[in-house]
Formats: sequence, C-alpha cells, structure tokens
Amino acid sequence: MMRSFQPLRILARIFILPAAVILSAQLAVSAEHAPPAKKFLVPPPPFSPGIFPCSQCHQGMPANRTPRKLEMMHQDITLKHMPGGWCFDCHNPGNRDKLKLSNGRLVPFEESYNLCGQCHGTILREWKAGLHGKRTGSWNGEKQYLLCVHCHWPHEPAFKSLTPMPPPVRPADIK
Ligand code: HEC
Ligand code: HEC
Ligand code: HEC
Ligand code: HEC
Repeated sequence: MMRSFQPLRILARIFILPAAVILSAQLAVSAEHAPPAKKFLVPPPPFSPGIFPCSQCHQGMPANRTPRKLEMMHQDITLKHMPGGWCFDCHNPGNRDKLKLSNGRLVPFEESYNLCGQCHGTILREWKAGLHGKRTGSWNGEKQYLLCVHCHWPHEPAFKSLTPMPPPVRPADIK
C-alpha cells in the first residue's frame, strides 16, 4: 500500500525543497532591508590638471564659510546655480577631497551623481536608466556612464545659448 505514495513524496521533495530555499533567500534579503547602493562605472572626474587632491592646499587651511568673490584662487568659479547656495552645500569643509550630501554623508568625486540627485531626483533616475546623459556598454553586461559633471559645469550648469549662424547664401544671390 505504502509504495503508491512514493511518487507523491518524491514530488513533494522536488517542490518543497526549492520553495524553502527561495523563501529563505527572500527572508535574507528582506532582513537586510536596502541592498548596498549600486556603483556605476564612470571615467575619471573631469578635473583641471593639478587641482586634485584638493588637500594639497586645503589641509590645515581653515574653511572660510563667508560667501564672497574668490580672489586668491579659483577665480574662474562664480556660482550661478541654486540661488542663495554656497560652496559648502556640496563641498566638505573638513576634507576638501570629498563631496558632502545634505545628510552629512561624504561621497568621492566619482559619485557626484548622488550629490546632484538630491535636488534633481527625476534626472538621476533617468540617468541610471540610460535616458538622460550618456550610457555605453552591452545590453546585459557592464555599462559605463558619463558623470553629470562631464556635461554640466556644477558651478554654472546651464548651457550657454548658441549664436545662430547666418543662413547659407543661395547661388542665385551670389553676385
Ligand atoms: C552644486 C554643488 C557645488 C557647489 C555649490 C560648488 N561646487 Fe565646486 N564642484 C562640485 C563638483 C561636483 C565638482 C567636481 C567636478 C569634477 O568631478 O570634476 C566641483 C569641482 C570644484 C573644483 C575643481 C575645479 C576644476 O577646475 O577641476 C573647485 C576648485 C571647486 N569645485 C570649488 C568650488 C567653490 C570655490 C565653490 C563656491 C564658490 C563651489 N565649488 C561650489 C560641486 C559644487
Ligand atoms: C593650489 C592650492 C589650491 C588647490 C589645489 C585647491 N584650492 Fe581651494 N582654495 C585655495 C585658496 C588659496 C582659497 C581661498 C581663496 C580666496 O579666499 O580668495 C581656496 C578656497 C576654496 C573654497 C572656498 C571656501 C574656503 O574655504 O575658502 C572652496 C570651496 C575650495 N577652495 C574648494 C576646493 C576644491 C574642491 C579643490 C579641489 C578640487 C580645491 N579647492 C583645490 C587654494 C587651493
Ligand atoms: C541643493 C540643490 C541642488 C543640487 C545639490 C544641485 N542642483 Fe542643479 N539646480 C538646482 C536648482 C534650484 C536649479 C534651478 C535654478 C537655477 O538654475 O539656478 C538647478 C538647475 C540646474 C540645471 C539647469 C540649469 C538651466 O538653467 O538650464 C542643471 C543642468 C543642473 N542644475 C545640474 C546640476 C548638477 C550637475 C548637479 C551636481 C553637481 C546639481 N545640479 C546639483 C538645485 C541643485
Ligand atoms: C552626455 C551629457 C549629459 C550628461 C552626462 C548629463 N546631462 Fe543633463 N543635460 C544634458 C543636455 C544636452 C541637456 C539639455 C540642455 C538644454 O536643453 O538646454 C541637459 C539638461 C539637464 C537639466 C535641465 C533639465 C530641464 O528640464 O530643464 C538638468 C537639471 C540636468 N541636465 C541635470 C543632469 C544631472 C543631475 C545629470 C547626472 C545625473 C546629468 N544632467 C547628466 C546633457 C547631459
């Protein structure tokens, strides 16, 4: 009599075991809550030659939090972004080699997209999906991204408007 139940038992093993494995894997994931932030492959940040590490000058130099026109260094930087903002909304006064998020977390310059994404969340989502900016690589493999700052100068991110060229001269009008 018992023998006729054997196939059922084998079936039960086939289905219940994987189910248990999947369930425990899911429990493990939900126990960790958020998975670690995904890293995106990017080329080196577009620094001017010789400017990085910033600490070569800033180490030991007290941070000056007063908004002002810079005259001794960085004269090329005039902030035209986020009205009322200042350098330390993005840069870290303690260690200038890192950027600072508004929650106080320090991020390396290779991860500046997370800084921009605090205020441009929709664009950061589109960037990750390859809809904004530039993404290359294989569809199911490794992908490379350009950083926001490869295209937008963070201190004055709007593109300069282009002066239109005059229209071409029609052959009939050439005298
Ligand atoms: C909106 C955020 C933001 C603000 C505000 C900001 N910066 Fe930056 N800054 C950045 C980011 C991001 C980079 C990195 C660009 C890169 O990866 O090359 C950068 C780069 C720099 C660099 C390196 C420039 C170079 O030529 O390579 C200097 C110097 C600098 N910032 C100084 C300043 C100063 C001074 C201020 C205030 C007047 C300021 N920044 C305000 C985000 C900001
Ligand atoms: C060659 C030296 C040098 C390097 C390299 C340098 N800085 Fe500076 N930085 C200065 C000086 C000097 C000032 C003060 C300028 C002034 O007050 O007119 C300054 C001012 C600043 C300020 C304004 C706030 C403050 O504390 O005065 C920020 C922000 C800043 N630097 C960020 C950076 C970042 C980010 C880098 C690296 C990407 C960098 N600097 C690299 C010399 C340097
Ligand atoms: C603290 C908030 C904040 C952060 C951080 C921030 N932005 Fe912005 N950004 C703004 C605001 C507000 C505006 C619109 C007002 C303006 O143009 O000044 C803006 C405008 C822009 C524009 C559009 C400019 C135009 O007029 O077409 C670009 C591009 C841009 N940001 C890029 C960036 C990049 C790249 C970063 C990261 C390096 C960044 N932003 C970080 C607040 C922020
Ligand atoms: C490959 C270059 C490139 C990269 C990388 C890039 N952008 Fe842009 N971005 C553009 C261009 C081009 C526009 C359109 C400018 C226009 O229409 O004037 C734009 C427009 C914007 C605007 C203005 C949007 C609007 O609706 O007015 C913001 C803000 C912005 N980008 C933020 C970002 C942020 C944040 C990142 C990174 C997460 C990023 N961009 C990465 C090229 C780029």
